[in-house]
Amino acid sequence: MKVLVVGKGGREHALVHGLWLSGAEVLATQPNPGMAQHARAIAVAPTDVAGILAVAQAEHVDLVVIGPEAPLVLGLADVLRANGIAAFGPGKAAAQLEASKDFTKNFLNRHGIPTARHVTVTDLQAAKRALRTFAHPPVIKADGLAAGKGVAVPDTWEEAEAAVQAFLGDRTLGDAGATLVLEERLIGPEISALALCDGKTLLPFDLARDHKRILDGDRGENTGGMGAVSPLPTVDAATRARIDREVLQPTLAGFLADGLDFRGVIYAGIMLTADGPKVLEYNVRFGDPEAQVLIPRLGAQLADLLLATATGQLAGKTLPTDVPAAVTVVLAAANYPATPRTGDVITGLDAASAMPDVLVFHAGTQADGATVRTAGGRVLTVTGLGATVAQARARAYAAAAGIHFEGQQMRTDIAASVI
Ligand code: AMP
Ligand code: GLY
Repeated sequence: MKVLVVGKGGREHALVHGLWLSGAEVLATQPNPGMAQHARAIAVAPTDVAGILAVAQAEHVDLVVIGPEAPLVLGLADVLRANGIAAFGPGKAAAQLEASKDFTKNFLNRHGIPTARHVTVTDLQAAKRALRTFAHPPVIKADGLAAGKGVAVPDTWEEAEAAVQAFLGDRTLGDAGATLVLEERLIGPEISALALCDGKTLLPFDLARDHKRILDGDRGENTGGMGAVSPLPTVDAATRARIDREVLQPTLAGFLADGLDFRGVIYAGIMLTADGPKVLEYNVRFGDPEAQVLIPRLGAQLADLLLATATGQLAGKTLPTDVPAAVTVVLAAANYPATPRTGDVITGLDAASAMPDVLVFHAGTQADGATVRTAGGRVLTVTGLGATVAQARARAYAAAAGIHFEGQQMRTDIAASVI
């Protein structure tokens, strides 16, 4: 099988590694040095839709796997499928589930999927009046894509008004903030429920948890994610069944009812409230860093599963269970997330990668001769595999301890909450 992977971060390194392990010939757009170990480099940007189509045709690939949301929102999957090329990733219409919070709230409500009460506003004065229809300051969400900066969770009315003023009044996020969703604030642990979906059949992964704040104890600034774990032994079987019954299956029913041909991975960000699971958001792609724990657990079956997803043949398939647990720890650059410093020399990569049951995925790295240097906010994600979460966690941290670069940031409590 010949596969083109679109994207160049830690998630895409996990995809390339799993596809290579599956025996596929792998090509990748502008791969980072870790990806380049197992993929032939294609000098086309992940958002260059015409360029990617041309490469897929010239190379006669069997499958294009689209990692990030930006090319999905641009309609890359539609263009590929219209030209007879199998694509893992939903089309532009379904990608609205990630690109528009208002679209998502309407989808959730239309299909009876539990979520927080909300009001959508496009006018500053109306927004300020709408705030007071909530008993407590609501969560304020910019409608459009804002690279993780589009959600404010205010503790006071003053903070809520300031967020509305910034997003909608001052357009600090550009047009992403032209429409706002104001939403009741929910309380409870957060989980990530991902499932492969081929348009007709869902194949849910074990639950995962991301750790979004920069500091231990979920303190400090929001980031793209500082580590992840799967499964979540602290979530009981009844809750898991509720997530499938009340969120994932109705989501598939919604796709069918709305005529959305969803072929890829649907990711529901869920809060486990006292009233049951409620959806905070959808993503229409693998999470990063959730991919770095979910994909290694698929072992050499990744290529087969992704192709079956893209071609509508998931019925009767199951996910492999031979890797019971995985934990990934992000090594982030100095000054991440505000203004990550780049160019620092990374040492210890080879020794860490050689450790058993350890995978070192590159995210923001660049090659400089034989040296590897930092080149982005999240630099590496170090995954440990094991029979239990505790074992996987110990392996991830043991490997991470051997890798160094100036100013490196790492949380020490990834997965601790589920052991
Ligand atoms: P989102 O991009 O919608 O997932 O929001 C980013 C983060 O904001 C989530 O991971 C939650 O921690 C928080 N958040 C979003 N919506 C709510 C809500 N309704 N109640 C409490 N926290 C929320
Ligand atoms: N881990 C969160 C995300 O990928 O959006």
